Amino acid sequence: MQDIKSEIRRLAREKNAVIMAHYYVSPDVQDIADFIGDSLALAQKAAETTADIIVLCGVHFMGETAAILCPDKKVLVPDTNATCSLAESCPAPEFEAFVKAHPGHTVVSYVNTTAATKALTDIVVTSSNARQIVESIPAETPIIFGPDQNLGAYINSVTGRNMVLWNGACHVHARFSVEKILQIKAEHPDAKVLVHPECKGPVVKLADKVGSTAALLNFAINDAATTFIVATESGILHEMQKKAPHKTFIPAPPDDSTCGCNECEYMKLVTLEKLYRCLLDEQPVVTVDADVAAKAIRPINRMLELSERLKQ
Ligand code: 13P
Repeated sequence: MQDIKSEIRRLAREKNAVIMAHYYVSPDVQDIADFIGDSLALAQKAAETTADIIVLCGVHFMGETAAILCPDKKVLVPDTNATCSLAESCPAPEFEAFVKAHPGHTVVSYVNTTAATKALTDIVVTSSNARQIVESIPAETPIIFGPDQNLGAYINSVTGRNMVLWNGACHVHARFSVEKILQIKAEHPDAKVLVHPECKGPVVKLADKVGSTAALLNFAINDAATTFIVATESGILHEMQKKAPHKTFIPAPPDDSTCGCNECEYMKLVTLEKLYRCLLDEQPVVTVDADVAAKAIRPINRMLELSERLKQ
């Protein structure tokens, strides 16, 4: 195991490659990455890297976003089968018909979409900035929001908007169970509940903090509580435990299982072995059709610019 890790690091050095990982990939892949982050941070980091090669350890849309932002770089993903159920739930032809059926609407799409769906979009958002970006759109402007209906419903509830929602969902976040979270809460009454906004409304209602993976991580580190029930993909617990070793993190279980973990099987397709092969062979390369990329980069850049501006 040590050999493969040092080989990965050697190859990355020799090839001037940067390894980026989402918080949901397995802990050994997170540990070897140069950078770990949520969807927004990965896009921001890709946009500014000086590396020649970007290896995106996550799901396919993350690699596509990096490839769109960095047309002069080689973007690799360790496993092309690592897709995203949310992105898959919003095929571009159907989304195009949906957009056409709502003329005059501003199209806001979650970053968890294919490049072709982004190409039909006015502004991309991630769970880190969706609320602020929607709030920055004039109140009288009607909005289509896709593809995550749970995130969309959450944004509607906190902003008072009435966005038209596409009915997609993340298969991992949609399966958290209110009953199981309440059972854990009964055993740990002081625990705070951390919930990703891709979860269904009744789960979101239990939350002490709703936020993107990075926002939940920061809350867990900085909040005075010492025990947290975490309702997002369980890969995030690795970084939480590393950053706050004295605190207790309990993964919220899915409704259909007796085991405690709620994992994204696509994120877990990314292994050290595949990462090694991908760096060695410089394959598979993520490619995006030039016309699609030319359209998709606009709403992504709009998000990056707005994100910077809204921070100030
Ligand atoms: P964030 O990375 O924005 O927290 O979203 C999680 C996710 O949906 C990854 O697929």
